[in-house]
Amino acid sequence: MTAPSTPITDLIRLSGKTAIVTGGAMGIGYGICYRLAEAGANVVVADQNENEANVAAKRLADLGFSATAVRVDVAAEPDVERMVAGAVDTYGAVDILVNNAGIYPNILVMNMTAADFMHVVNVNLTGVFLCTKHVAQHMIQRGGGGRIINVTSIDALHPSSAGLAHYDASKHGPGASPRTSRWNWRHTASGSMRSPPVGSPLLASRPRKAVRRCRRASTWTTWCRHSPLGSP
Ligand SMILES: NC(=O)c1ccc[n+]([C@@H]2O[C@H](COP(=O)([O-])OP(=O)(O)OC[C@H]3O[C@@H](n4cnc5c(N)ncnc54)[C@H](O)[C@@H]3O)[C@@H](O)[C@H]2O)c1
Repeated sequence: MTAPSTPITDLIRLSGKTAIVTGGAMGIGYGICYRLAEAGANVVVADQNENEANVAAKRLADLGFSATAVRVDVAAEPDVERMVAGAVDTYGAVDILVNNAGIYPNILVMNMTAADFMHVVNVNLTGVFLCTKHVAQHMIQRGGGGRIINVTSIDALHPSSAGLAHYDASKHGPGASPRTSRWNWRHTASGSMRSPPVGSPLLASRPRKAVRRCRRASTWTTWCRHSPLGSP
């Protein structure tokens, strides 16, 4: 990963805090893990791909950061419960959850099975619900507050490809649910971040035309106007 120009500690200090990042083994998730760890947080790299999660956590530890790996399928509630309990056992508490794990297989609606559709919804939407539920329960029980951040997609607002109907539908929910969540609990801030295209391993497999369309300045400007980063 290219070293960011602004030292993160000039922006935020997270010493003593613990963050779980789902889908943290690679791509955007690993970038988030890196920056949180750089800010001083203990980072739990939570990913379905156990090997890559271990590699990512070791890479962070070798840089002198505090990181551990856990295998989780965010769509499976027992996995999610184990992930949260493990983080609490290891670090004492969870202060930050980044719901980043997501999949975007390209399939035209006419060729899509109900199982294809449900798989994407289960990971991208049900997974966010399950992780949010169990981390929020812990944060409320502990009484120390916390932050829950959902990584959604600009594609939910500005579709870039014919094969992403299931993905775009699944990404609307994590964008909207924090507004409802804030009425469910008071002391935990939650928000969503609509990511523009980022050169991650999965994106590298997307049709180039779709990626170019998404990067158009007009799309970017509209996105920034409607969705300022950081507003919970
Ligand atoms: N790359 C982009 O341009 C882009 C744009 C908009 C939004 N996003 C969103 O950003 C997030 C990360 O995307 P990325 O491009 O870095 O993807 P990626 O494929 O590079 O990384 C996704 C990670 O999630 C993990 N994962 C997949 N299913 C999982 C599951 N069920 N449980 C736990 N982990 C699982 C994968 O093993 C992988 O490590 C996704 O939510 C994606 O929708 C990406």
